[in-house]
Amino acid sequence: MKGILICGGTGTRLRPLTNILNKSLLPVYHRPLIEYPLGVLLDAGIKDIAVVTGTEHLDQMTGFLGSGSQFDCEFTFKVQEKAGGIAQALGLAEEFAEGENICAILGDNIFFDDISEPIKNFKEGGHVFLKEVEDPERFGVVQVEGDKAKSIEEKPVEPKSNYAQTGCYLFDNKCFDVIKELKPSPRGELEITDVARWYLDNEELAFTLLEEEWIDAGTFESLFKAAGLVRDRR
Ligand code: G1P
Repeated sequence: MKGILICGGTGTRLRPLTNILNKSLLPVYHRPLIEYPLGVLLDAGIKDIAVVTGTEHLDQMTGFLGSGSQFDCEFTFKVQEKAGGIAQALGLAEEFAEGENICAILGDNIFFDDISEPIKNFKEGGHVFLKEVEDPERFGVVQVEGDKAKSIEEKPVEPKSNYAQTGCYLFDNKCFDVIKELKPSPRGELEITDVARWYLDNEELAFTLLEEEWIDAGTFESLFKAAGLVRDRR
């Protein structure tokens, strides 16, 4: 399995912190944000990792991450020239994936659960990680019935459940063909939710419910909360 660390986007909600810096390099108490999603990949034994980032951030990302030797892994850098969505960023890693399954993770997501087992055990189809939240309309929302995913919608005005799709996605290599067929959403992006929906429609989408905290550190409040949680757990 190959890892894909998605660090695109402009971090609009974190300006001026992100005027120059990529969001994933912002501090979360004592470590840069990116070390948390990177840690998820490393804990699952994934050592071959593509980092996707925008042209304006390439130098700082390569500068901080280097070749990967200090993290005992190997990085390949891919450039997303315009912010066109998470699915577009993932699509840039097709050659890198070399036909293998992938674990894509967003550079601003912090998981406090240990999700290494479901990642290691993944064989085929798609697998997402869901967290019960109070503000599901901010996220991709998955409606579940027993162990089945019934529907998935990106930032619905009237969410059908409280389960947010978090920023870690396991897909088999079919995802790259799915991405080629995607049309941009109303926000002008190729949505990862549409990739997950393709697997759901084919009854191939599994999920794990998270129990611990999960943070999408894209706002001042969530970044601040993340720092507190990390400090408490040191
Ligand atoms: C993205 C996804 C969304 C998911 C979220 C998790 O949202 O589109 O489905 O719930 O990441 O962090 P974005 O951060 O692009 O608004």
